Amino acid sequence: MTDCVPLIAGNWKMNGTRASALELTRGLVAGLRERPPGGGSQWLVCPPFVHLPLVEACLREATPEDAGALLALGAQNLAATAGGALTGEVSASMLRDAGCTWVILGHSERRTLLGETDAQVLAKLQRAQEAGLHSIVCVGETEAQREAQRTVPVIEAQLEALLPALQGASPGGLGATEVVIAYEPIWAIGTGRSATAELAQEVHAAIRRWLGTQGLEARATRILYGGSVKAANAAQLLAMPDIDGVLVGGASLSVGEFLGIGGLSSRP
Ligand code: 13P
Repeated sequence: MTDCVPLIAGNWKMNGTRASALELTRGLVAGLRERPPGGGSQWLVCPPFVHLPLVEACLREATPEDAGALLALGAQNLAATAGGALTGEVSASMLRDAGCTWVILGHSERRTLLGETDAQVLAKLQRAQEAGLHSIVCVGETEAQREAQRTVPVIEAQLEALLPALQGASPGGLGATEVVIAYEPIWAIGTGRSATAELAQEVHAAIRRWLGTQGLEARATRILYGGSVKAANAAQLLAMPDIDGVLVGGASLSVGEFLGIGGLSSRP
């Protein structure tokens, strides 16, 4: 059992209008205000780029002294280079400037649908670290890889590609740049077929063992599970000793579902 603070992270993916992003943020802020003191979990939302300014403004209005106190703000991607002539890209320092403290990197949708390579994910992680952003790096196997019993080697190879950046990270560091690993089996994403808590636990334990063999701070590194997490299955997953939080897609678009994942309810 690790003593990490659980991280409940919402990946909004390519969803929402300005109006729905604002409504969702306001609903989450209202629900999170009701948390018992001390709170338990850390909460994060990662809206699409275009909605970051309005979500940031809403969070700053809610807690002017610290915009991320109730709910931290993150992006879903960033550019592999620091800045300059690269039409359509958004840099790590721009995200920092826009009020983000987190970024999701190497999501399987980017790897498989948009051709993102391990080398690009490493470069992006390094840009995030240079800009002072905490990162959630995603790893996971396809259904065919699982059936071929290659889950752990596939994930180890994805992590190994990130070693130069992982070695420079400070796991669990509050204030320092943190790298969180998200295990997202591709066959469980958006399918309604979540991994069982036991199966996810097995992979999380393997990831933690691997971190240890690399001389990294295995116990202080937060490892999240992602893939069809919802209010109904979250408690079981979060009860597992090596599951330090969840990365939520579809269910993070509903105030009630997302708060329910962390054991909270929405305000009527
Ligand atoms: P779903 O929760 O919609 O399965 O998505 C998971 C995910 O990809 C989060 O990054």
